[in-house]
Amino acid sequence: MTEHRIPLAGVIGNPVAHSRSPRLHKHWLKRYGIEGDYVPLHVVEDDLEQVIRTLPKMGFVGVNITIPYKVAVMQIADQVSDRATLIGAANTLIFRKDGKIHADNTDGYGFLANLRQNSRWEATAGPAAVLGAGGAARAVIEALLEAGVTEILLTNRTRDKADGLRHEFGSKITVVDWVQAGNIVEEAALVVNTTSLGMTGHPELRVPLDGLQPGQVVTDLVYSPLQTRLLREAEAAGCSVVDGLGMLLHQGVPAFERWFGVRPEVDDELRIAVLG
Ligand code: ATR
Repeated sequence: MTEHRIPLAGVIGNPVAHSRSPRLHKHWLKRYGIEGDYVPLHVVEDDLEQVIRTLPKMGFVGVNITIPYKVAVMQIADQVSDRATLIGAANTLIFRKDGKIHADNTDGYGFLANLRQNSRWEATAGPAAVLGAGGAARAVIEALLEAGVTEILLTNRTRDKADGLRHEFGSKITVVDWVQAGNIVEEAALVVNTTSLGMTGHPELRVPLDGLQPGQVVTDLVYSPLQTRLLREAEAAGCSVVDGLGMLLHQGVPAFERWFGVRPEVDDELRIAVLG
């Protein structure tokens, strides 16, 4: 007789102790009365593949993947979603009943769902200005294009990386020098900071923000602090502002649903639980 197994999930990273994902998923497990658990898994690179292949045998239904393994897990998965392929990284693994490991990326979904829940942004509103060209920018750009945005103004300190993204994602992207960032902030219907600037312990985002005006939507992927300089100045200029915590909460929705069979809600109670 097979024993009833408690479904487990977790987050694999190195470091991983700072991850807010355990609070997020444990809150949902409790709220929906699901007998299950979610744990942080600190894994060193040499063990990554073996750990991932062993987890399903221990009752794991899937895991989130964080720094520095979002690219590496793509090679380990048996199946990679189109979205994860386009982004070039995966943040979610689903251990299927047939033994196959499916990799997906829900960061872009989380980005859009957060924007839509907390502002009136629409893809047709006009150009989107994206600051930064790292891993987070790739997920944001993929999501914006999929949503139907027709022009993305992209700027990055290292221009080559922005040019590389234009090459990959196509002519809807216009690359602008980092020193011109103030201009695109002024022209855009949506402004997104995907850089680490403004995060606690990192330098401040110093892009000129005096062009911000009412009617623009401004969002920061940085959520520590919740109120970055970008969001503070945007709010003072009368823009609609969306903080980055919502993206973290929303990116967990499709994962939780696939693992535990319930589509969870993102609301204030969850925000408070995750902020702790
Ligand atoms: P993530 O996966 O969070 O996007 P990342 O891939 O390391 O992390 O990208 C970090 C982003 O922040 C990049 O766009 C980086 O610019 P560079 O490509 O020029 O490195 C940007 N960034 C980090 N520190 C910065 C700084 N001091 N000034 C300007 N941009 C910075």
